[in-house]
Amino acid sequence: MKDTVRYEREGAVAVITVANPPVNALGHSVRQGLWQAIERLEEDDAQIALIVGEGRLFIGGADISEFGKPPAEPLLPDVCTHIENSAKPVIAAVHGPALGGGCEVALGAHYRLAVEGARFGFPEVKLGLIPGAGGTQRMPRLTGIGPALGMIPAGGSVSAEEALEIGLIDRLSKGDPRAAGLAYAQELLDQGAGPRAVGALPRPEPDAEAVDAARALWQKKSRGEVAPLQAIEALEAATRMDFDEGLREERRIFMGLMETPQRAGLIHAFFNDRRVSKLPEIEGVPPRGLNNVGVIGGGTMGAGIATACLLSGLQVTLVERDEAAANKARDTITANLDAAVKRGKLDAPKRDATLENLAAVTDYAGLADCDLAIEAVFEDMAVKHDVFSKLDKVMKPSAILATNTSYLDVNEIAAATSRPQDVIGLHFFSPAHVMKLLEVVVADVTAPDVTATAFALAKRLGKIAVRAGVCDGFIGNRVLATYRGAADRMILQGASPWEIDEAIKAFGLPMGPFEMSDLAGLDIGYMTRQRKAATRDHRDVVPVWANEMYHKGWLGQKTGQGYYVYEGRKGTPNQAVAPLIEHARAGHTQRSFTQQEIQRVYMAAMVNEAAKVVGEGIARRPLDADVTLLYGYGFPRWRGGPMHWADTVGLPGILEDIRAWAKTDPYFWQPAPLLEKLVAEGRNFNDLNKETAQ
Ligand code: COA
Repeated sequence: MKDTVRYEREGAVAVITVANPPVNALGHSVRQGLWQAIERLEEDDAQIALIVGEGRLFIGGADISEFGKPPAEPLLPDVCTHIENSAKPVIAAVHGPALGGGCEVALGAHYRLAVEGARFGFPEVKLGLIPGAGGTQRMPRLTGIGPALGMIPAGGSVSAEEALEIGLIDRLSKGDPRAAGLAYAQELLDQGAGPRAVGALPRPEPDAEAVDAARALWQKKSRGEVAPLQAIEALEAATRMDFDEGLREERRIFMGLMETPQRAGLIHAFFNDRRVSKLPEIEGVPPRGLNNVGVIGGGTMGAGIATACLLSGLQVTLVERDEAAANKARDTITANLDAAVKRGKLDAPKRDATLENLAAVTDYAGLADCDLAIEAVFEDMAVKHDVFSKLDKVMKPSAILATNTSYLDVNEIAAATSRPQDVIGLHFFSPAHVMKLLEVVVADVTAPDVTATAFALAKRLGKIAVRAGVCDGFIGNRVLATYRGAADRMILQGASPWEIDEAIKAFGLPMGPFEMSDLAGLDIGYMTRQRKAATRDHRDVVPVWANEMYHKGWLGQKTGQGYYVYEGRKGTPNQAVAPLIEHARAGHTQRSFTQQEIQRVYMAAMVNEAAKVVGEGIARRPLDADVTLLYGYGFPRWRGGPMHWADTVGLPGILEDIRAWAKTDPYFWQPAPLLEKLVAEGRNFNDLNKETAQ
């Protein structure tokens, strides 16, 4: 077994170092090492112990890759209790993040010191769990229940300074945690300080009002996610149970959650976040340098992209067609940054310094020094060609030329330049400085270091990049078009837009498809239908009621009515839409739909199209489709993604549904060949993920 915990003497101090790169996760060998270190402490003549983490952080939590496997002893709760029961005092000296189990190890210690830059967090609910090694019982004993209710159900964290303020730690220091810890140990020895168990502290004061408020908040916020509410139950238990009983209650809740599909979905999502950028084609390929970014077009999208780049410290040159448009773009960017100040993302002096990095110009010549140009102009091939031929003339030879198109053929755009190998699609989602997803659209001859640079850019911007191939709509919008199509079909068969929205929200999405239309603007869908009109198959369903709504000027939120009538951002169903729908239903057989049926149809359409996208190689792996839908389309994270969800409910059932619906609508419900193949072979999407894992 790996030697992941070292025990060394430094005079009277036993220094226990957790050394399990990359994040000192508390895997089996670390738990065993910590257990043995405490045993050894009892046996030798050290007077005090100091636990530190080696590398860039203290301890990153339990080893997530062990979840779902049979637990191996010693279990983490026992390790924490073992530390707490030590007859000699134990100090935890924390630097960088102490997360989940890492925080619990620190709480098992008798004294806690943190150096500046340390963070204490309980991210367990983000994995569908609650702290399971005493966190819910020890934290409120130190801080009272209020701060614990603020942090644990939210999966939140606090800085070292905040931790000191709320009583989570005893001391704040600077510099090297080992040196600071040794000095603290000496001080404690000089004072003759003994062990001091958090578990021996009195129960935290009950606070029914705060507990009820937290329950109400998370009932509303969690949209079907169970862990945050369960965390509140565990914290509430701390106020009325003795420590040992509270620990048992925490464990009971933890073990229950461990068995849930939500836990499996969230952990699938956690690992996918990291796997999505691991692609053989860019492995070991150094990205090109990136300091100056050009943005062409200062509308909502261009200004959002510029804001995102500025916020990550890049220099930005924005090109608009005239002075007035350039000034308007600058105003939009300033407003975006002001909003970031309001949200506490940056302070006013930082905003001013950030704006210094922006140049809004009217001449392409201003892009000569840029390492990357991102075009965000009108979605029209002739316009794009014009922009790219201008870029081709002014950009330096090593520069990357990117398009933010959401559906146009990137190969065709690249053909407008003399350097198609330097052209790539960077499909941002609006608002671009907020949304996490970036689809990286790799064209036929895009150079690998251009793709590698796109992934490096996403990381710098704090975004999740997904590799997509060229097709209409790439991964996300192509899949969206299909499940939107399924929703329109259900309307013709008798479901109302409001019923569909409710069913989709009940599934866990923040919005239904028709609320989404209202938010985006019904003109967007109308324009898309116009664009596709010439090539549309005659069997395709056109939502003629939506065209009528467009002609009436009911464009959604921006005009005060669409599928809903708005007062502010709150909408109530717009009954005036019903007769338009009724009219469109002529000739279609009507029936009623349960919420479950709506969800089944909608999800099957999503999964089937995503399977086509994977089968055609537009998405490299099912996990790429999962990540796209999670980060760009509001798919509930706790369901893992549509492909993971499909695996969970079983692919044969989904295929059976699709085949049954194909009897009446064979055009829309063509089963994805990949889905048929997997079912025939008795495999699932995750098997494919594993095959393509490196
Ligand atoms: N268990 C197992 N593996 C873990 C892990 C954990 N708790 N935390 C991180 N890793 C792995 C990642 O999968 C990644 O592996 P890879 O290099 O093979 O892809 C590697 O460690 C580095 O993690 P990464 O997230 O890329 O590093 P970072 O420096 O950006 O962030 C953390 C470090 C610790 C902040 C971040 O990894 C994190 O939040 N981890 C989860 C912590 C958590 O939820 N703990 C509670 C568990 S109950």
